[in-house]
Amino acid sequence: MAILSINIDRLRRDIDNLARFTRGPGPGVTRLTFSEEDRAARAYLRDQMEAIGLRVVELPPGIMIGRLESTTAGGPAVMAGSHIDSVLQGGRFDGIVGVAGALEVARVLVDNQVPIRNPYEVVILPEEEGTSFGAVLTGSKAWVGQLTSDRLGQMRRADGVTYLEAMERYGLPASGLDAHRLHRGRAKAFLELHIEQSVVLEEAAVQIGVVTTVTGIRGFDATLVGIANHAGATPMARRRDALAGAAQLMAELERFTPTLGAHTVCTVGQIACSPGARNVIPGEVRLSIDFRDIENLDVKWAKLASYLEEIATRRGLKLALGQVAGSEPVSLAPPLQDLLDGIVVRRGLSGMRMPSGAVHDAQIMASVTDVGMIFVPSREGRSHCPEEFTAPPDIERGANVLLDAVLALTSA
Ligand code: GLV
Ligand code: MN
Ligand code: MN
Repeated sequence: MAILSINIDRLRRDIDNLARFTRGPGPGVTRLTFSEEDRAARAYLRDQMEAIGLRVVELPPGIMIGRLESTTAGGPAVMAGSHIDSVLQGGRFDGIVGVAGALEVARVLVDNQVPIRNPYEVVILPEEEGTSFGAVLTGSKAWVGQLTSDRLGQMRRADGVTYLEAMERYGLPASGLDAHRLHRGRAKAFLELHIEQSVVLEEAAVQIGVVTTVTGIRGFDATLVGIANHAGATPMARRRDALAGAAQLMAELERFTPTLGAHTVCTVGQIACSPGARNVIPGEVRLSIDFRDIENLDVKWAKLASYLEEIATRRGLKLALGQVAGSEPVSLAPPLQDLLDGIVVRRGLSGMRMPSGAVHDAQIMASVTDVGMIFVPSREGRSHCPEEFTAPPDIERGANVLLDAVLALTSA
């Protein structure tokens, strides 16, 4: 058969259309799990998939699947996909390239009446970013059974609604969670095309990244407690200022983290100061801490945490650290890395193997099936911001690698 290729115009149109489902006002894309924008984006994807004859289902915990049946015997599904939720004011490519790429692959299979031994499924995962319910990878973890229904009933959005309540309001029964769990054997492989979200490919002038390992993560809520007091009457030497302590803690965290390893990163992205008044010394500060590495997370975090405790104690503050999210670094299936490398060579592209510093649903899917990830370059490494951009020819190359991998896996 002649070499098949994806149609980048159709793929760009999907990316542009999906970018319109955003909560305004504000720059970039804000599309939260189970929001009206999420519902509209899913309706769009359902239409696109049904238009080419895929059978579309939505399952608890919010998974959408478009299935193309095998033309022969059946067997486990070859899955490709990613997420459609976003961070606040994020970009239009994160997650979407993998979803729209998987959809475009389905169009190519259908248009060309490609015989497939294994069914092919476009998989759309919810709450990858953790923007609404506080923990990354929630949808995929719940699907494979790493998060229980009880836990989903405890995870709350800012308005107090739990994941289970939001899912039920969306129209998916909590009682269906167990029945729809993804067990080993149901999928032959899961493939995720994604933007790199860093500068490695761009700086190396390489077109395709074949992901070797996906980072592990520990997410904490830190509370720093001092003493609220009068801003005018309390001498500087007698203060227990929780916000000044938090400032030192953040500065030290930035200095200390790189000493732990080349891939160790740590971010404070949220801060809330109480009581938050101009003339009151802050008595309590809450911070989010996002700590990542591709190895030895617990040992490294213990070092950093004890250093943070030391700083707090020196300032007469109490530090409490509560873990809210965690996942382990995961090595992706070597045979799929080899398959992707071979495709890159056969297509005459440049490629390199690389780890991922961003977390991805792929690492959770790796607990139930073989997983492969394809990276395409991000302009200036920008991501999780409105400036996120990947050029159409880069997306086209990545989607063609995805297509070839799906062809290989559904025909072997
Ligand atoms: C998700 O994109 C993350 O890496 O936090
Ligand atoms: Mn993503
Ligand atoms: Mn992301």
